[in-house]
Amino acid sequence: MCGIIGYVGKKKALPILIEGLKALEYRGYDSAGIAYLKNNTIEMVKSIGRISNLEEKVIETEDSYMGIGHTRWATHGKPTENNAHPHHVGKITLVHNGIIENYKELKEECLAKGYTFQSDTDTEVAAAMIDMVYREEKDMQKTLQKINKILEGSYALGILCEDDTDTLYAVRKDSPLIVGTSTTGNYIASDVPAIIKETKVYYLLEPNEIAEIKESEIHFYKEGKEIEKEKKEYEGDASVRDKMGYAHFMLKEMHEETDVIQNTLQAFPTFDASLTSYKKIQIVSCGSAFHAGLVAKSLFEKYAKVPVEVTIASEYRYAPFLTEKNTLVIGVSQSGETADTLAALKLAKENGIDTLGIVNVKESSIAREVDKVIYTVAGPEIAVATTKAYLAQVTTLSLLALSLAYEKDNITKEEYDTIMHDFSLLPTKVKELLNKNYKEIAEKIYQKEDIFYLGRGVDYALAMEGSLKLKEISYIHAEAYAAGELKHGTISLIEKGTPVISVITDTNLKEKIVSNNKEVHARGAYILVITNTDIPEESYDLKIELPEGNPFTNPVLAVVPMQMLGYEVALLRKCDIDKPKNLAKSVTVE
Ligand code: M6R
Repeated sequence: MCGIIGYVGKKKALPILIEGLKALEYRGYDSAGIAYLKNNTIEMVKSIGRISNLEEKVIETEDSYMGIGHTRWATHGKPTENNAHPHHVGKITLVHNGIIENYKELKEECLAKGYTFQSDTDTEVAAAMIDMVYREEKDMQKTLQKINKILEGSYALGILCEDDTDTLYAVRKDSPLIVGTSTTGNYIASDVPAIIKETKVYYLLEPNEIAEIKESEIHFYKEGKEIEKEKKEYEGDASVRDKMGYAHFMLKEMHEETDVIQNTLQAFPTFDASLTSYKKIQIVSCGSAFHAGLVAKSLFEKYAKVPVEVTIASEYRYAPFLTEKNTLVIGVSQSGETADTLAALKLAKENGIDTLGIVNVKESSIAREVDKVIYTVAGPEIAVATTKAYLAQVTTLSLLALSLAYEKDNITKEEYDTIMHDFSLLPTKVKELLNKNYKEIAEKIYQKEDIFYLGRGVDYALAMEGSLKLKEISYIHAEAYAAGELKHGTISLIEKGTPVISVITDTNLKEKIVSNNKEVHARGAYILVITNTDIPEESYDLKIELPEGNPFTNPVLAVVPMQMLGYEVALLRKCDIDKPKNLAKSVTVE
């Protein structure tokens, strides 16, 4: 969601900015723009739609060695060129990620001082405010210090000032920003992969810190004082930006799932979290991470006998705070930057509740906010639709539930060993599932307008993920229902040929869901079952057979075909699979 790139150095800036913007595409955006210094003048180019539209307007060979770029995911105002970043006011040109919450009051103040506005954005107001303060202070460092006290909300800003033609400024609060460094120049970016072709060495800008960046020096300031910061080195390499021969990042990432399971099993002994002292667990998360939490709930409650509440983070943060002591709040997030999940965890912490993060991106805001963190080892995920990271979340949470069940003597050593053995077989089984032919099944459903997913117990949680995967990338309306709820309303939507995808891994609930399937079948539904249990042939039209599993490994097995099916359906519908419309990979605003 919005991406920032900036460069000052010895190389020509425009190719670096365009390359950086392309690398940030995965975050989700609907317009893009750059501003660069040429002959001591700031030039701007903006465009709506894809980066390729911007690229057509830009002459990359321009003699410019400093500039900033931005991908915008519209919040205040439509995706138009006027609203696209950078915004230029007076001596200031800036790009912004986040939301300035008090922009209306600030706009009034600026209007009263004679500023006029060309866009509907909160960002242009921030630019005017910085210009106003700069005209008093005549010093950017002092200006940004003051600005940190004036702006409310979340922001990462990359700034050019007309009077400092050799310096790029950066400041942040809550939205992430890194400062990269190499022998040929220095950079700012929303994440390291955006500059990975230039450098892996970076500094993490902390809230309210100011970076003053020149061709061969970087200075950091906090509360008016210069500070030293530790250099970090990114562990990944440029291959994270490469599809490695796959048609889409989503497909590549699904094929990485076998390695992800292997890596998670290897990391398991190092998990630093015994949960025995907690009477209750609350899981806060969004989207697929919320669905992973629901899978975990079923395992924790059934085997570790600990009550688990799973709450959508955006609901948790505004609900009355009733969390009791002896509760552990677990935040699950791939990006580690999801604004609602971060806010929910902060709320828990402020109220003296222990927090644990299950996070994929190292040193992300959530990873640094929580008391303890367990990193999922999915590696960087580029496709907006999460696949391997969701799988890593489910595997990690399942292993935690298993280990708690064992620590509490709810399962024997023998049972524990058998389940762990099953986990070790998962990579081979997942590979087998990935290699099945989903295209034929996709052909039967890709022209439908509505598809229903059914499940009971843990299978309902899995159905929810299957339905999200399909709808977010194929734009087919898909809904998941707890199968027992159907007759309370939804069954009236079933018509002849309506596809119903039914997940059945829980043998205890098998008979129940088979009856529900028969009910919709009798009303004309076309039933696809995803199962590793024996079910009567007359209760379905088509079956995806899952390899044998146990309650801890079944969720992983069941979700893979649903991810692949979503992919194949979206492919047949010619959708932009890696970058679905309106969506962002990292949802940094609420
Ligand atoms: O980065 P997070 O795991 O916190 O993101 C949560 C959701 O935004 C994310 O899972 C979203 O639902 C995905 N698009 C689903 O594929």
